[in-house]
Amino acid sequence: MKRLDGQLALVTGSSRGIGAKVAEGLADRGCDVILHGRKNENTLHTKKLLVSKGVKVYSVEGELSTLEGVNQIVQQVEAIGHVDILYNNAGLSNIYKPIFEYTMEDWHEIMQVNVYSLTFLCNAFAPAMKEKGYGRIVNVSSGIQDQPHLVAYSVSKAAVDKYTKDLSFELKDSDIKVSYIDPGWIKTDLGGPDAENDLDSVLPGMLIPVLLDKEDATGQGFRAQDYKGKEI
Ligand SMILES: NC(=O)c1ccc[n+]([C@@H]2O[C@H](COP(=O)([O-])OP(=O)(O)OC[C@H]3O[C@@H](n4cnc5c(N)ncnc54)[C@H](OP(=O)(O)O)[C@@H]3O)[C@@H](O)[C@H]2O)c1
Repeated sequence: MKRLDGQLALVTGSSRGIGAKVAEGLADRGCDVILHGRKNENTLHTKKLLVSKGVKVYSVEGELSTLEGVNQIVQQVEAIGHVDILYNNAGLSNIYKPIFEYTMEDWHEIMQVNVYSLTFLCNAFAPAMKEKGYGRIVNVSSGIQDQPHLVAYSVSKAAVDKYTKDLSFELKDSDIKVSYIDPGWIKTDLGGPDAENDLDSVLPGMLIPVLLDKEDATGQGFRAQDYKGKEI
């Protein structure tokens, strides 16, 4: 099993759902983890689980729907230390309505959390990775298709894919691999109880972009379900 001992990862939205599972997978490989939720108390359960694995675990809190919230997260993380792995997992899909009824506010809310804040976190941490000569940035996308009632969500994820490719090109001459990944349709608060995959199925796939080697390509898109049941 490839290890990540001594590295420090920030996993946004790791209070529950897919982010909590990713944090668990990282800790199982010896990676220290900074958990994030809107409130520190939301990460307590995940924190307890990870501490039992013998890695260092920290929590930061903050809203990704405002620039102020993003800046607060960045300040808390910088006080902890250098981030080797930025796992942009937090996201929301809270609007379900006919495509022609989408308002400016609907678009703004989804794009702010799923896209703009993600780019600001990359702005905050990628330059230090570049200076150090190493980093892994993972942006969580989606395989959503043909769901016009969720158009703002699906467009936000298409934007994540495109942003990832542009950022990877910017960093292509360094050992910073920037990837996007579709977890699959997963039973979480966001995915709902009818989703086709259990939460456990996101591992080990969600770790693939973190485990890339220097000679591997950057700017790749992955699907976590392709690695279901495999040893990595
Ligand atoms: N579940 C699926 O089927 C599925 C499919 C494709 C892609 N995805 C993507 O996978 C990622 C994780 O989804 P999930 O299903 O695990 O979702 P989830 O269970 O609803 O968890 C969402 C996480 O994001 C955080 N979050 C939500 N809104 C936030 C905000 N405004 N500011 C700061 N943090 C916020 C939450 O923090 P709090 O606990 O503090 O609220 C929580 O940790 C998302 O990017 C999602 O789009 C999910």
